[in-house]
Amino acid sequence: MNMQTKPNDLAAFWMPFSANRQFKKAPRLFVGAERMHYITNDGRRVLDGTSGLWCVNAGHCRPKIVEAIKQQAETLDFAGMFQMGHTRAFEAANRLISIAPEGFDHVFFTNSGSESVETALKMAIAYHRAKGNGTKVRLIGRERGYHGVNFGGMSVGGIGPNRKMFGTLVAGVDHLRHTHDLSRNAFVRGEPEHGVELADDLERLVALHDASTIAAVIVEPVACSTGVLIPPKGYLKRLEAICRKHDILLIADEVITAFGRLGRPFASDYFGISPDLIATAKAITNGTIPMGAVFVKAHIHDAFMNGPEWMIDFFHGYTYSGHPMACAAAIGTLDTFEDEGLLTRVNELAPYWEERVHDLKGLPHVIDIRNIGLIGAVEFEPDPAQSGKRAYDRFVKAFEEGLLVRQTGDIIALSPPLIISKDEIDQLFDTFAKVLKTSN
Ligand SMILES: Cc1ncc(COP(=O)(O)O)c(C=O)c1O
Repeated sequence: MNMQTKPNDLAAFWMPFSANRQFKKAPRLFVGAERMHYITNDGRRVLDGTSGLWCVNAGHCRPKIVEAIKQQAETLDFAGMFQMGHTRAFEAANRLISIAPEGFDHVFFTNSGSESVETALKMAIAYHRAKGNGTKVRLIGRERGYHGVNFGGMSVGGIGPNRKMFGTLVAGVDHLRHTHDLSRNAFVRGEPEHGVELADDLERLVALHDASTIAAVIVEPVACSTGVLIPPKGYLKRLEAICRKHDILLIADEVITAFGRLGRPFASDYFGISPDLIATAKAITNGTIPMGAVFVKAHIHDAFMNGPEWMIDFFHGYTYSGHPMACAAAIGTLDTFEDEGLLTRVNELAPYWEERVHDLKGLPHVIDIRNIGLIGAVEFEPDPAQSGKRAYDRFVKAFEEGLLVRQTGDIIALSPPLIISKDEIDQLFDTFAKVLKTSN
């Protein structure tokens, strides 16, 4: 491997979602990766406890994906998809539909989770208009939700720091309350017992705004980026039922939960819900080439197909929607998932994972532990003077000890590649326990 071991000048790159000044004083740099590990610029192996950023579900640098990308780069590097096409995009769409929950017949390609969210929100509003319900324009999100960083997603999102700098955001948005309730649900394994009634918040918003003004509700089945908030038992089904009652579309933001994280291809399968639109990205290409996809049911798609046949049916799309390299990567990824049974492998691992994450109970400052599928979270008692610092320090220390974890506020999230072995699960938790025992 041709490794560059010394960083160049770090000033030019303004890093996203980062403490730039601090990072550049003590950088953490990767130069390689292989299956479960990253390799740092000083030659250390770091166990990937986060699948990169929740996207490398099949582990790093997998041969079928690498080969698919190489071949595509040599054969057809780019072809636009506006009024033109290339075969890989149709092949990728068909392959994706073959693993989608029942009723999903179409996919619309984007380049990221944020773009999938924007696309789904626009589809929802335009769908109602196409059906003659042009007053249904409001969008409902949820407090603590994360739906990316573009204006629509930021507006339906519910994480204060992600919103507060950016003005008045999109108009006509309201939020359900979040479901996090440590007083009733701390240290619960899997889905919390309490909180199904929080879904009735949607009735409250319907009473306030009237259903005739509401286009869609968007939620993450498991709200991961905010620190892993697992829906209370029955919550998502109740939310779905209220949506149906009022002709409000349900958008599942599965940017993290799709592609096997909960032991099913999609979290919608896991929770037994049938949304109208599913936003995805990340593991769709195993993180290799940026790509997103919105999965669409026939009744939504068909509502757009009523104008003259020669006319554009949906005035939306990106230059790189269905990019050949991304489509090749998606096909290589789906091949890898299929060969190795990765879309369901988590069912085997989840019980052991659950035991090991809950073993951390009782370690200093731990006030909650949560788990579902191959996702875990440890919440720390906040230090009132420095909110988030406690988890941040543990993230840095874990990295020094050879483990990558993800910090959000006072929470550390864990979500390794789905190829992890039991020995590697042990290594992950042994290292993390050591970090927690030796931190202030
Ligand atoms: C649920 C959810 N939606 C949307 C996004 C945004 O995805 P991206 O960063 O690819 O734009 C994320 C990213 O973590 C996410 O977790």
